[in-house]
Amino acid sequence: MSRILLGVAGGIAAYKACLLLRRFTEAGHDVTVVPTENALRFVGRVTWEALSGKPVSTSVFEQVDAVPHVALGQAADLVVVAPATADLLSRAATGRADDLLTNVLLTAACPVLMVPAMHTEMWQHPATQANVATLRARGVLVMEPADGRLTGADSGPGRLPEPDDIEQVALAVLGDPATVAAVRRRDLAGRRVVVSAGGTHEQLDPVRYLGNASSGQQGIALARAAALRGARVTLVAGHVTVPLPSGADIVRVGSTADLAVAMRAAAAEADVIVMAAAPADFTPAQASGTKIKKDGADGLELHLVQTVDVLKTLSQDRPRPQVIVGFAAETARDAAHLLELGRAKLDRKGCDLLVLNNVSGGAVFGAADNTVTIIDAHGIVAEASDDKNVIAHRILDAVAAASEGVKRQ
Ligand code: CTP
Repeated sequence: MSRILLGVAGGIAAYKACLLLRRFTEAGHDVTVVPTENALRFVGRVTWEALSGKPVSTSVFEQVDAVPHVALGQAADLVVVAPATADLLSRAATGRADDLLTNVLLTAACPVLMVPAMHTEMWQHPATQANVATLRARGVLVMEPADGRLTGADSGPGRLPEPDDIEQVALAVLGDPATVAAVRRRDLAGRRVVVSAGGTHEQLDPVRYLGNASSGQQGIALARAAALRGARVTLVAGHVTVPLPSGADIVRVGSTADLAVAMRAAAAEADVIVMAAAPADFTPAQASGTKIKKDGADGLELHLVQTVDVLKTLSQDRPRPQVIVGFAAETARDAAHLLELGRAKLDRKGCDLLVLNNVSGGAVFGAADNTVTIIDAHGIVAEASDDKNVIAHRILDAVAAASEGVKRQ
């Protein structure tokens, strides 16, 4: 259980912070909510108190005996401000201390995650961008807002990311100093990262397909993590069972052939490619244009042909210097056997890094955690067993190190 302080500034997206609060408490965290006075115009004190199970104050002049403006910041393991309005970002950047939340921001020794939400014009205004740059330079973690429908009929960057997305970022940051340091470094700023995620659907007829059990979680975690580290991210998503992240351009694909086309197009501009998708290795030689009928047949034989190996073709034919990462789920007897299979696959595929999973236990698909061994041509680069969001950052650490090599060439 961690102690999370949830700051809520005065924007319409405050209603989404109720869902975020709920997710944090359901995950077993102890959450204290500190809204601003203006946040209470959107969502009342009663809602925050009922959902957090604690009294809520906005001012340093309430419960003065407990010195909350110092105690709350000192006690927190993580401060999340969602939504962080233009005004809140400005007050935080200039070090104002005119309400309880801004006091907390000055006393918090733990990581602080700001999740901006405002109109596109306000987000893009040089004043707001300068405030974000100042906060980042001081080590504050600032998520990019989502691009989508805003309060009115208009849409653009400035929308609060979905509560699930914020929770996943918070999870990666909580208690993992290496991830906090990596996000602070913004070591992928200016880099174009293309990630594929999820399984493919190979159509048999208009209503049936061959699919697989990939949830897309690891690829989605990678896209989210790369965006947090400053990269411009394109996520090529097949069939996934978890919400897509904000902060990435999304391209949806169905079959392995679609995936190959989308990846080839995205690769033209990419500095980093991560093939976390689980494309089908075989596809029907010919999909039936009409629904296959069982009419008296006692069986059905399918003729399948091999699909294109996307990772291999991307690795062989690089339009520019790139770091290319593959995944390999293997049923290995032990660690040495896993490494042996991994080395052979790295060589066969021609990629720079390979993330190895031992799926002998069958646990990886759909699970929140993952155990990986990351290798390059010289051997093991890193090993990790953690939440998939944290694993994503360890993979990106290896990518960032390999990128330095590519830049030096
Ligand atoms: N991959 C790909 N195109 C395919 C199949 C797989 O790009 N048609 C990619 C996956 O996204 C993954 C890597 O290749 O990054 C390894 O996938 P895997 O299924 O382990 O490799 P295969 O070549 O299919 O090897 P195996 O015969 O062991 O299944």
